[in-house]
Amino acid sequence: MRKKIKKAVIPAAGLGTRFLPATKAIPKEMLPIVDIPTIQYIVQEAVDSGIEEILVITNSNKHCMENHFDRSYELEKRLKKAGKREECEQICEIADMAKLYYVRQKEPKGLGHAILCAKSFIGNEPFAVLLGDDVVINKGGDPALKQLMDTYEQVNASVIGVHTVPHEQIYRYGVIEPTGRRSGKKIKLSNLVEKPKVKDAPSDMAIVGRYILTPEIFEALEGSRPGANGEIQLTDAIQQLMISQVIYACEFQGEWYDVGDKFGYIRATINQALEREELYEPLRDYIKKLAAELK
Ligand code: UTP
Repeated sequence: MRKKIKKAVIPAAGLGTRFLPATKAIPKEMLPIVDIPTIQYIVQEAVDSGIEEILVITNSNKHCMENHFDRSYELEKRLKKAGKREECEQICEIADMAKLYYVRQKEPKGLGHAILCAKSFIGNEPFAVLLGDDVVINKGGDPALKQLMDTYEQVNASVIGVHTVPHEQIYRYGVIEPTGRRSGKKIKLSNLVEKPKVKDAPSDMAIVGRYILTPEIFEALEGSRPGANGEIQLTDAIQQLMISQVIYACEFQGEWYDVGDKFGYIRATINQALEREELYEPLRDYIKKLAAELK
């Protein structure tokens, strides 16, 4: 029988080496896109998709994420005293966004290992995974995760979020090999390839940070040997799962930003700033001026 997806895991225990030195003391998931930390966008997406409980995989350097989603009585008191009601409400709302739980990954042994840390929290249910450095904005439409959950409802199998990327950039990603059968956003898979050469890539559809996984993934992860960089790779475990289960991809709608990458982060910041009423005009004028000056 199909089980409803109620729990999500947000792995956020990576080292963020692409963003050093900023990430020496601050987790990349806490870097703000305009004035909201990346992880808050991701928690919001999970909540808007109907997720009830979220487990964040953290490490010893990341307690500021827990503080961000907790009450801050001292700050609330000061804001109230200063008559800043709106700001006070805003910070209280963050603490009430979702039922959040935390577990530490003791060593950064890879994404697959981070997900394995969620085994007892998840139990024997299908669950969602949202990577802590992939932000998807689908203005006016369903969140990316909800689109994957809808696909899961149709196929009752694991679903991987994918996005078409420019052909020449495909070597940077895990890539899906479709069976050729596609219906709307839903694609049946025959294989996955991690970082293929451009000429060998089986498609231009990259795996991008949103998954619905069946609990059998934990067994596959436990049996996984460290792969690239000595890390336990989620892709390897999904490949293992494909031996016994059918797996689908969902090409979700929405603008995707890899905010663990500097250019992705800058793009997200500019686009989200342009969404703000108070920032739109000055930023638009500044970009136009800059574009005219740039060669
Ligand atoms: P990334 O590979 O993008 O994160 O993992 P990273 O290792 O922090 O990045 P760089 O390459 O060093 O800059 C994708 C997601 O998985 C989490 C990361 O926090 C990120 O959200 N992750 C990765 C873990 O939780 N644990 C790990 O051991 C590795």
